[in-house]
Amino acid sequence: MGSKKSATAHSVAIAGFHTLLKRIAQCQDPREKERLRQQMDETYGGLDGYQKESLKGRDRHNAGETGKWLVQQVGPIWKAEQEASGKRRIRLLDVGSLSGTAYHKYKWIDPVNIDLSPQSERVIKSDFFDWPLPQNEAACFDCVALSLVINFEGNLFRRGNMLLHAHKHLTKAGFLFLVLPLACVENSRYLDHARLRAILHACGWNVVEQNDSAKLTRWLCQRRQDQAQAGWDGTSFKKEEIRKGPSFNNFCIRVGQQGREEKT
Ligand SMILES: C[S@@+](CC[C@H](N)C(=O)[O-])C[C@H]1O[C@@H](n2cnc3c(N)ncnc32)[C@H](O)[C@@H]1O
Repeated sequence: MGSKKSATAHSVAIAGFHTLLKRIAQCQDPREKERLRQQMDETYGGLDGYQKESLKGRDRHNAGETGKWLVQQVGPIWKAEQEASGKRRIRLLDVGSLSGTAYHKYKWIDPVNIDLSPQSERVIKSDFFDWPLPQNEAACFDCVALSLVINFEGNLFRRGNMLLHAHKHLTKAGFLFLVLPLACVENSRYLDHARLRAILHACGWNVVEQNDSAKLTRWLCQRRQDQAQAGWDGTSFKKEEIRKGPSFNNFCIRVGQQGREEKT
């Protein structure tokens, strides 16, 4: 009973934080933006306060669950490849890594953990968009993980840009691992599985595996090889209602010309 109560309080805190993040991202008035930031600090203890709530939630809901699914999908192939060729360990950029624990137990994976607000020394403080780009193929990652990160971003174009930006860090046949709360596709006015698949395709990704758990939707994608330079194929995605009714949430990902220039 007690734990159910605290789980509810935890969910309410997280939902409130995400609503504020979105309002800050959408707000055009600098004074109002500042006021909302103050409200975030006072109510949630800022980003750091959110991270601590997030960690509590992960402890309750089986920390590392998303990493485990990825390893089940590609682990045997990666491991065999590495052993056969004596290749370096699989290089994985874990964006929004929080405490940097998702991949540390797999000896054949070499994770680089980044986060806007790290919660352990394993994690480097950096925005994904500011992380230095590789200078050659050898410095590229084999996989970029965006696990519960895109839904954290309040700006709809920046969400789409994350899907495009991942290409810049990957080897030619590199993977993108995308995880979202299931409600983002099951219960959104603007997104469902088919539309997310279309967005991923337009952003240069082939979906290799897709699976939903009780709370999460998980997508393992590989760079499309059918484009001279894998990336955006020019298809735009606007905020279009695909489900009507008051009970749906407003989660949306936008892709378009404006978003290609927009970083903030
Ligand atoms: C809900 S946590 C996800 C933690 C973990 N990846 C997981 O799957 O449980 C979202 C994290 O993404 C981070 N984040 C959001 N946007 C980011 C960005 N542009 N660059 C780096 N980290 C970002 C946040 O700071 C936050 O710690």
